[in-house]
Amino acid sequence: MEDKPKPDLEGRRGFLKAIDWSRWGHLETDQQKGIPLPPFQKPHPADAGLVRLVPPDELTVGKTPMLEVINKRRSRRKFTDEALTNEELSFLLWATQGYRRDVNGWSFRTVPSAGSRHSFETYLHVVQVERIDPGLYRFLPKEHKLVFLTGEEGLEERVNEALYGQRFNAAVTFIWTTLPYRMEWRYSVASVKAIAIDAGHVGQNLYLAAEAINCGTCAIGAYDQGKMDALLGVDGGDEFTIYAAPVGKPAEKDIDTLQRHGIDQAQTSEE
Ligand SMILES: Cc1cc2nc3c(=O)[nH]c(=O)nc-3n(C[C@H](O)[C@H](O)[C@H](O)COP(=O)(O)O)c2cc1C
Repeated sequence: MEDKPKPDLEGRRGFLKAIDWSRWGHLETDQQKGIPLPPFQKPHPADAGLVRLVPPDELTVGKTPMLEVINKRRSRRKFTDEALTNEELSFLLWATQGYRRDVNGWSFRTVPSAGSRHSFETYLHVVQVERIDPGLYRFLPKEHKLVFLTGEEGLEERVNEALYGQRFNAAVTFIWTTLPYRMEWRYSVASVKAIAIDAGHVGQNLYLAAEAINCGTCAIGAYDQGKMDALLGVDGGDEFTIYAAPVGKPAEKDIDTLQRHGIDQAQTSEE
């Protein structure tokens, strides 16, 4: 039998460890070299028609008590055909990447980020959101608006394929990319860990915000890197997909998580 190459687990684990911060000064990061910091948001064409979202200070949804939200949270993988309202989508975007202010090129948002570097861009595949045409969009945190990218035919099928056929019947799918240089500019080799942790904050805020408005979501790590990057029109090097999450109104009968993971129900004490 042919010897299969062993996965380099040891090497991969390394990125989860802290660097020697006492020697951070020796890393010669671009920040230390005095190179100007990269923009915290990708530019958009000046003539792009921007889609208005309910402004953050006018939001009325999402007031469910935190304890109730935490108690309810779980991954939801099947949604009804019900549309989200513009306000609901606005709230979810506010919760996940909401822009508060920027100071000398550093942005501050509703989610934490190592060194406030905020390396993510949010793309949305909109299927059913009131007053927003179906298609692919990118969120502009500073403007709290959407920029339309494409409404090409077959988009839904391409998204499904890029999610390895995980079909959720989502009203909208969040897809986050990272531009690693935004983090590397300050943290060099320590950026990988910081970006991964940052993504978790965004994902969890989406879970909690979704539950607060009787929506649901499921974190998606299993996606086709090449297909998703191509779909978003990003180069896969300086910008690439890192995480995704379908959102919708939960269907009464969800997909069984235990069955999905091949967990034997007879041997569990829960549910
Ligand atoms: C980083 C990450 C990646 C995940 N990727 C997937 C995925 O690709 N498909 C899926 O159905 N669930 C995915 N999940 C959801 C987990 O399966 C789920 O959180 C877990 O089964 C526990 O269930 P709960 O969230 O309902 O508590 C992912 C969760 C995380 C945090």
